[in-house]
Amino acid sequence: MITYNSKTQTFRLDTANSTYCITIAQKGYLAHSYYGAKIGQDDVSYLTRQMEYPFADSSVFREKLSILDFLHQEYPTDGVGDFRKSALAITNNTGNNAVELKYKDFKITDGYPTLAGLPCVFDKSNKAQTLIITTCDDVLGIEVELYYIIFDDTNAIVRSAKIISHAQEPVFIKKAMSLAFDMDNDDYDAITLNGSWARERHIDRHPIHMGVQEACSVRGETSHQEHPFIAILEKTASWNSGNVYGVNFIYSGNFSALVQRNQFDSLRVMIGINPENFCWKLEPGATFETPQAVVTFSGEGLNGMSHAFHDLYRNHLIRSPYKNQMRPILINNWEATYFNFDTQKLIDIAREASKDGIEMLVMDDGWFGHRSFDDSSLGDWYVNEEKLKGGLKPLVDEVNKLGMKFGIWFEPEMVSPDSDLFRAHPDWAIQIKGREPGMARAQYVLDITRKEVRDHIMNQVEGILRSANIEYVKWDMNRQICDVGSLDLPADQTGEFFHRYVLALYSMQEQLIRDFPKLLLENCSGGGARFDPGMFYYSPQIWCSDDTDAIERLSIQEGTALVYPLSTMGAHVSVCPNHACGRVTPFKTRGYVALSGTFGYELDITKLPPEERAMIPGQIALYKKFSPLVREGDYYRIASACENHEYDCWMSMSRDKKQALVTFVQLYNHPNYKTRMIKLTGLDADKIYKITWPDEDKEKFPPIQLAGATIMNAGIPVRRDWGDYQAQLIFIEALP
Ligand code: GLA
Repeated sequence: MITYNSKTQTFRLDTANSTYCITIAQKGYLAHSYYGAKIGQDDVSYLTRQMEYPFADSSVFREKLSILDFLHQEYPTDGVGDFRKSALAITNNTGNNAVELKYKDFKITDGYPTLAGLPCVFDKSNKAQTLIITTCDDVLGIEVELYYIIFDDTNAIVRSAKIISHAQEPVFIKKAMSLAFDMDNDDYDAITLNGSWARERHIDRHPIHMGVQEACSVRGETSHQEHPFIAILEKTASWNSGNVYGVNFIYSGNFSALVQRNQFDSLRVMIGINPENFCWKLEPGATFETPQAVVTFSGEGLNGMSHAFHDLYRNHLIRSPYKNQMRPILINNWEATYFNFDTQKLIDIAREASKDGIEMLVMDDGWFGHRSFDDSSLGDWYVNEEKLKGGLKPLVDEVNKLGMKFGIWFEPEMVSPDSDLFRAHPDWAIQIKGREPGMARAQYVLDITRKEVRDHIMNQVEGILRSANIEYVKWDMNRQICDVGSLDLPADQTGEFFHRYVLALYSMQEQLIRDFPKLLLENCSGGGARFDPGMFYYSPQIWCSDDTDAIERLSIQEGTALVYPLSTMGAHVSVCPNHACGRVTPFKTRGYVALSGTFGYELDITKLPPEERAMIPGQIALYKKFSPLVREGDYYRIASACENHEYDCWMSMSRDKKQALVTFVQLYNHPNYKTRMIKLTGLDADKIYKITWPDEDKEKFPPIQLAGATIMNAGIPVRRDWGDYQAQLIFIEALP
């Protein structure tokens, strides 16, 4: 519900559990008056404390400097007296840097707006509502529309801004964040998700200190290192209790997500396109739309925040027809063979895999040009006939004959210096004239902002997809972008490059899913550097990390699941010692951890020890049984090995609270300990549940029955297994 109270000049957005209020303050400044748990229908304009600035006469508006740096703002601007970080910075042809937005108008509508060329939320149930507040700066001759979308089934609010120029000359947008708001600090902590290659999105919780704390990327992609997400939470907030605010960004390029604590102990929270290396020339009459950003409030701890994000993305962002379907169980040959394979090897893997119930073979890097290592052929998307004799079709036909689907790997945005493409078009690589462009993994990035480059690549990719029955694509991106220049962009538009790159990427993927509507697309970037909600709009699943070690995956998947649904997390079982870290873990544990993602295998099944191979059909049966619960259920974090250094535990529960799958992983065994009791959460206290160990011998581990209240308050017993890295799968089902 969105309302406007003309007496108090306050807009109010109510989701099921939260209230968000914006007040038109003195002189038409837009103040953020409240966000948090639901409140009464009171006049909340007192919360803006507009006239409270020290030394000001509280009965009259004295001067704007006595209010702007103090006011809790809704979309703060640059250069006019709010000295905190601004959300909007614009320069015009006078060279002056100042924007002062004043309230002009508003509209409340049913439905939701769409954004041109950008991923954006949708609503199939026709229950979304949108508030549009128009503000303007008459000196610059610009209008800024602030968008707020709410839904009936999630506590998330989706925001974006549209800048419209009525100026006579071009203006230059130097910063346009998607979301900003200020709030009182209450001794809050912040959480960010940080990492590295093969170590993505680890949860980092820390007190908010004075000044700015920022997570950002200038790498041209979301990145392994920092993530477009910040949570602000009470010191005492835990998985299940306490107030938590979360912000996230529906975008796949350079971002900035920050919280700033100031002299008055206020917090400013912002997220949007990173202003570093950004400048957008806005011609008279043109508009610029920011990507959408999401904010959530949970009064029920981090799990409540996760539910809001998961519901928003599953119900209102992922478009793929596969989103509510069981994904084919795939076997990928990357860790099995790296570049060293041929038709026969792939068929051998497929044949053995099909015997165990695996449903799709994915041929990874190395099938094209003359690629036999990572130093050639990107851009030459034609089959390497030395490896695949007779081409792709005989291989795919053979795999299909085994009853399996076939999938393929591309890295469409890249070019190797040793490639026919680069020899023909050296200027297609991103570069600054007169400078040697930097290489990474022996490759350059193609300037896909140029239409002829995009068209050439898409023609090749689509030609391959039409040449055989290919049902899945893994779209990879294995380096970051620097030495940025485009032969197509004049000097006063080079600051547009990074954003244009992301728009170009989106347009290529949009074309791909439009031309191949049944294709299952999985995004990937050196593992999980493009695991972001922007990509959900095109692909229902994303490769989570190049680290397939079950124990490393605990923290990667915990951080990822804090914001993103399990149905989006690419997770595979691989061999030990693990290729990324050398650890040896039980095959069973590797299976249980992968079952909480899209599930598949990344190994040479023909060489797997027989005792491990024998476990595959059982793992597949578990996946088939529990996939709907994992995909569509509510995710609850029960315990985190990152916090307790001993064990990890999480649960997927059906919406009706009748079924739940619990995964428990014990890091280290210690002698002479007692059975651990795990207290679950979210169950129906009054229901009686039957608890089983679906992957264990029923004689040895007979079912038990307990009331929901007992399970949540006293706990269920989890055994102490012999050895390290042991895991248990526990199924909980309500009795009729
Ligand atoms: C990236 C991906 C891997 C694999 C390799 C191939 O690192 O994350 O899964 O596809 O590229 O080069």
